Amino acid sequence: MNSKKVAGEKAVEFIKDGMTIGLGTGTTTYYTIVKLAEKVKDGLKVKAISTSNKTTELAEKLGIEIVPFNEVDYVDLTIDGADEVDNLLNGIKGGGGALLYEKLVAMSSKKVIWVVDNSKKVHCLGRFPLPVEVVPFAYNQIFNKLEELKLNPEIRKRDSNYYLTDGQHYIIDLFLNKIEDPYKLEKTLKSIPGVVETGLFLQIANTVIVGNGDQVQIIEKS
Ligand code: 5RP
Repeated sequence: MNSKKVAGEKAVEFIKDGMTIGLGTGTTTYYTIVKLAEKVKDGLKVKAISTSNKTTELAEKLGIEIVPFNEVDYVDLTIDGADEVDNLLNGIKGGGGALLYEKLVAMSSKKVIWVVDNSKKVHCLGRFPLPVEVVPFAYNQIFNKLEELKLNPEIRKRDSNYYLTDGQHYIIDLFLNKIEDPYKLEKTLKSIPGVVETGLFLQIANTVIVGNGDQVQIIEKS
């Protein structure tokens, strides 16, 4: 069995009738959205908030109506993927480029569940390149600052162009290998003018559902 499918589908069991649900982005939440669409067809009523154009497209194609984020005051539950998760349930997100909207929706959520396969569990964050979303107007200045800080920046590209996020920003990936103090790094990055958001999601996830073959492990934040 596909580990991503097992984790993604399991999360749907947490969705109750009448909830406002944040839908994450990626290949694991794909399975969440497909399963949720089945339940919606069977009569489950939810309001869904999307974290990316890609997710909106998929959800709407499957018959899940997406409500604009500005039309809700809070989200009951957000289900999203992650690129790395440590033992404290801190993580790196943004491999799929949707970190800004993912963080905004997560921060308005009463509960956040991440769905991951076993390979995403780490002892220390940082092997996965840390995405930093920046304003295009100053990407060169921000890049130079990140280099000065020895954070090994690389501007993300798609084909031969700079990768453009749904919010019309660029992404600079930091190749760090190991993040000793994610809180300090988050503070440093956020203090650079033009940095819109980082892929460090600290103290945000309440629950992580890990798929491993046909097994699922549910880890609750202690
Ligand atoms: C997108 C994300 C994704 O949730 C993350 O990249 C995990 O994706 P996948 O489930 O495809 O491994 O943060 O911005």
